[in-house]
Amino acid sequence: MLEGKSVIVTGAGSGIGRSTALVLAGYGARLLLADIDHGTCRETADLVTAAGGTATAVKADVSLADDVEAMVEAAVSAYGRLDGAFNNAGVDGAFESVADSTQENWDRVMSVNLEGVWLCLRAEVRRMLPTGGGSIVNTSSTGGLVGMGIGLSAYVAAKHGVVGLTRAAALEYATQGIRINAVCPGTVRTGMYEQVVATGVVTEEQIAAMQPINRPAQPEEISESVAWLLSDRASFVTGQAWAVDGGLVAQ
Ligand code: NAI
Repeated sequence: MLEGKSVIVTGAGSGIGRSTALVLAGYGARLLLADIDHGTCRETADLVTAAGGTATAVKADVSLADDVEAMVEAAVSAYGRLDGAFNNAGVDGAFESVADSTQENWDRVMSVNLEGVWLCLRAEVRRMLPTGGGSIVNTSSTGGLVGMGIGLSAYVAAKHGVVGLTRAAALEYATQGIRINAVCPGTVRTGMYEQVVATGVVTEEQIAAMQPINRPAQPEEISESVAWLLSDRASFVTGQAWAVDGGLVAQ
């Protein structure tokens, strides 16, 4: 489905990013994997290589423009072009009411979850325009579609921002061969999930019950949707915020 395509994955050291790297490589993509944690990112590259795929790992903080530029250059240098990108790196942020919220948490969440996606998207579009296009998928959340109401206002605001950015950019480049979509996962069993459970704010049973399917997703269940959006099979799909959420936002 993705044979020979050159694809960037951010946040590739863990969770949805790692799982998606393995799924994309299985469909034939050549990967440039990026994460702020270089050790775990290299581990993902090793897992891809061991499974017969092609991957290069770089250290990049997606909230820093210079790191993002270097990341895109590394993909082009490794594979000669850039066909796709999964802008997925993110942080969860503190659980705090709006009244008790802090500037520090707001700035951290916005800089990684929204500004980071914008920096990646900008650099990737600039690279894709001269070569005729590509496909970009941004990770939002069901928290990019509904309010959640559990004290994650900065996270929810950033993820709504990702949906708006995705739609605006998709319209700008619709006639230039670049498709841009967002994936909006429900709760997924990753490191982020474990951190949320560890806060004690919500129990595993409560998290499961948020989804009509009554369980969290496995990361691979998100990765398959991302692979399809990145592929030419989704050639008429752009500007979408696709809830992959066990029915959460259908309620
Ligand atoms: P995770 O914590 O397992 O993985 C996130 C990865 O991003 C880590 O490897 C981390 O080192 C990396 N990262 C963090 N800040 C970074 C930065 N500034 N630059 C580069 N890399 C950075 O989390 P998970 O669950 O895999 O999350 C991936 C994405 O999915 C995030 O955008 C998250 O908001 C989103 N998401 C997760 C859900 C869940 O229930 N786990 C639900 C909906 C969305």
